[in-house]
Amino acid sequence: MFAAWVFCGTIRTVGIALEVFGDALPVAERYAEFLAGAGVERGLIGPREADRLWERHLINCAVVAEAVPQGANVVDIGSGAGLPGIVLAIVRPDLTITLLEPLLRRTRFLDEAVEMLKLPNVEVRRARAEEVAKEFAVDVATARAVAPLERLAKWALPLLRPGGELLALKGERAAGELDEARPVLERFGVRTAELRQVGRGKVDPPTTLVRVVAGRVERPPRRAKGSRKRSS
Ligand SMILES: C[S@@+](CC[C@H](N)C(=O)[O-])C[C@H]1O[C@@H](n2cnc3c(N)ncnc32)[C@H](O)[C@@H]1O
Repeated sequence: MFAAWVFCGTIRTVGIALEVFGDALPVAERYAEFLAGAGVERGLIGPREADRLWERHLINCAVVAEAVPQGANVVDIGSGAGLPGIVLAIVRPDLTITLLEPLLRRTRFLDEAVEMLKLPNVEVRRARAEEVAKEFAVDVATARAVAPLERLAKWALPLLRPGGELLALKGERAAGELDEARPVLERFGVRTAELRQVGRGKVDPPTTLVRVVAGRVERPPRRAKGSRKRSS
């Protein structure tokens, strides 16, 4: 509990961290310490982020749990230093999570973090999302700061089972990205695509998610050779 004061900064943040992480707060604190130390030294987290790890990263990612169904299989695309995947694993031990990350330096960091935090529900996989579509049919794919939605959807939708959900953490441009991605989402036959806010009263502003529910199409039909992209 004392360590939370060191890392959280303000009394309000300490209270929210307690509310969000509950009994898992000591594990979240060890992770915050690892991010602020090895994470910054090895360039996975910017040095200026160390002072705002809780508000901008840990709590911001933990509230995504509000949108994840109980017992879900989750793949976190482009996990980087483990955001949001490791945070979700800490706060939701009922989930089974694969951290998907192509860069060796980052997967090494993730392996160390998973071992140090003793997270039995997490596996680290070194690969690009678009290379492993045949190996996954998960309930939920998460992604933060990985690619514009249009591209992310092409990587994420083939990893989902029909009815599975992509939860993409997006900022102010969420609505614009969703509009731009609509043609791609339609080609994949998605059931719904909408914005959802989580973490009201816990993070300011609340975390914006683009939530896309997959249909049955794993890959959109290829355009016929020589056919042109229709201009709208
Ligand atoms: C800006 S970082 C974000 C990391 C983390 N999600 C976060 O929010 O701090 C983007 C990450 O996506 C990974 N990435 C890039 N292309 C990818 C792909 N095709 N499949 C999976 N991960 C990818 C990068 O290696 C990098 O770790």
